[in-house]
Order: sequence, then C-alpha cells, then structure tokens
Amino acid sequence: MFEEEVVDYIDLRSDTVTKPTPEMREAMAEAEVGDDVYRDDPTVNRLEELAAEMLGKESALFVPSGTMGNLIALLVHCQRGHEVIVGNQSHIYLNEAGGMSALGGIQPCPIHNQPDGTLALEDVVASIRTEDVHHPITRLVCLENTQNICGGIPLTAEYTRQIGDLVHRNDLSLHVDGARIFNAAVAQAISVRELVEPADSVMFCLSKGLAAPLGSLLVGGNQFIARARHIRKMLGGGMRQVGIVAAACIISLEKMTKRLKDDHARAKRMAEGLRQLEGLVVDANSPHTNMVYLNLSDDVALSAQQITQEMKDRGVLVDAENARRFRLVTHYGIDDEAVEKTVFAFQKVLN
Ligand SMILES: Cc1ncc(COP(=O)(O)O)c(C=O)c1O
Repeated sequence: MFEEEVVDYIDLRSDTVTKPTPEMREAMAEAEVGDDVYRDDPTVNRLEELAAEMLGKESALFVPSGTMGNLIALLVHCQRGHEVIVGNQSHIYLNEAGGMSALGGIQPCPIHNQPDGTLALEDVVASIRTEDVHHPITRLVCLENTQNICGGIPLTAEYTRQIGDLVHRNDLSLHVDGARIFNAAVAQAISVRELVEPADSVMFCLSKGLAAPLGSLLVGGNQFIARARHIRKMLGGGMRQVGIVAAACIISLEKMTKRLKDDHARAKRMAEGLRQLEGLVVDANSPHTNMVYLNLSDDVALSAQQITQEMKDRGVLVDAENARRFRLVTHYGIDDEAVEKTVFAFQKVLN
C-alpha cells in the first residue's frame, strides 16, 4: 500500500480555511445540546445571548452561513418589489448567488464603492427612489465591514453613524454585512458594539478568522429576530442539536476575537517583506486588517495563475483574484514562520 503524502500547506487563500482549535474540539465533544428548533439547546441559547450582548442588540439568531444570514436579513427588511442599495463591490451583490432576487423578489441597486470601501453619502441619497408608480420602493441600505474586495478596509464608527442618520431620516433601514466585523473593531481599537450601534441588523461570521468550523449570527431587535427565526425555518436553516457547533462558536467570541490583532500584525509583516521584492506591487496602505492585496508588476511575464501553481509547488496556497492580482489572508493557521516562508517562496518564484 502506498500512502499519499499529506502536504501541510501554508494556506493564505482565505480565513475561511481555519480549522477548529483543540479547545473547540473538546468543547464540541462535551457540549450540552437539545433541539434548537424547539429552542431547547442550552449552548445555542447561550451563544445567541452572548452575541446579542457583545453587539449591543436585543436578540440574535444562529445561522449556518453568512450568506444565509444576509439573505434572511434582506427577506425580513424587504418585500417583493423593494430595492436595496448595496456596494457594487459587496459580497451581497457579487457573491451570494443573486439570492435576494431569486428568492425574495428584491432588486439590488448597486452603487460604486469608493476606494476606501465606503458608499458616498451623496450617491446613497441620489439612489433613494422617489415615490412614483414606475419605481421600485427603496427599503434598505447595506454596508460591508470590513469591506473585503476594497482591501479588507474597516469602515469607521463615524461613517456608519452618518449613513445610519441618513438612512433613518429617510425611513429606511441599515443592514451591516459584518462577516469580519471583529477585525474591523480590533483594527480601530473600538468595541464592536460601538461600531454597529447605528445598524438595525448585523450579520457576522464565526467561521472566518474566528476559526469555528461553521456558523454566523444575525443580530437585531426582538421583533426582527423573531421574524428572522421564521424565515430561517422556511429556508431550511432550522438546525437540531447544533449546540455541538455553538460550543465552538462561543470560544470564537470569547477567545478568538482577542487574537485577531496577531493576524493583522502578521499581514503587515508579510506586506513589508513582499514590498522588498521586485516584481510585486503591494497596494498602498495594504493591509488594513488581515488581507494583503498585491499586483504583479508589468515586467513579470508569468500570470497570477501560473505563479499560484508555482507557489503551491512550494507549499504555499494563494488566491489569484485575476491574471495580475493576489489576495493573501492571514489567520489562526498562519504563524511567524509561515510569513517568512511565504515571502521566501514569492522571491524564488519571481527569480
Ligand atoms: C464580506 C462577506 N460577507 C458574507 C460572506 C458569506 O459567508 P459564508 O461563506 O459563511 O456564506 C463572506 C464570505 O466569505 C464575506 O466575505
């Protein structure tokens, strides 16, 4: 019998590749569970209470994925024929399989994300529909924090407050896709609660830099979450003894949030190392959090896809965004040595 060699890759493709920690595995094995559709799972109940408390909202709902959490939020806020103002670089608009239109009859109104990840206040104002029999009805504005494609940029509490004021003055609601909201808070040394205070609802993920095997939370007011619970069931997201997963998620919130600063520091060191290499142009100001974005310089003949393969041959997995661009994401599985090895592998591949 031949045994296949298992390569322990340095995996920088995303923070979604994180595996549960030994402490999480232990907590999962010992978790007290019940049928969560009956609200009988004490571990899920504890997770939801903790999430609501940390985010400063009345209630929380555990959902299997960020995509489902965002979709549920949109389905609660909007009816068929309503319109949602979203960034044209947002995950909700680009990468959620068109769920809002396909399943909710909701129309996206995409507006330009500024280079700093924000939606310009004047663009939002200009996109709010006037009352007219021909128009869809604007109902919701969505922000993404951190803004992934714009560089993992954290939006500020002040900006979120300005958008919140604008939205509420116009009788609309504000939803924050906070898949990496804890990265945003840590990078700005403020509490998550303060950062999302103006939002009517927030989705955030435990399965990314916080290392849980799966799971996201949707938080908002009591009525909003009661309606969200109903829609989660409708979408097939009512789970049973899911305290097994929630046990890991509690560790994500209580412990893993405290180590995100290490990922940010390592992303910074990686960017500094890569800036020294000929052939790479790291984005100005990158990284803002745990994502390093960079391009190949014009004189490099290889494509990003070819380099991705060569990096893989050297034990490093990277994400080619297009033929010239990469995104490298640091996380719990990336230590100081992995940072050095990554810079070294790029150097070798480019020479
Ligand atoms: C900004 C953002 N929002 C939402 C999601 C969706 O999360 P999930 O993969 O759990 O559906 C992601 C996933 O990477 C994301 O990056």
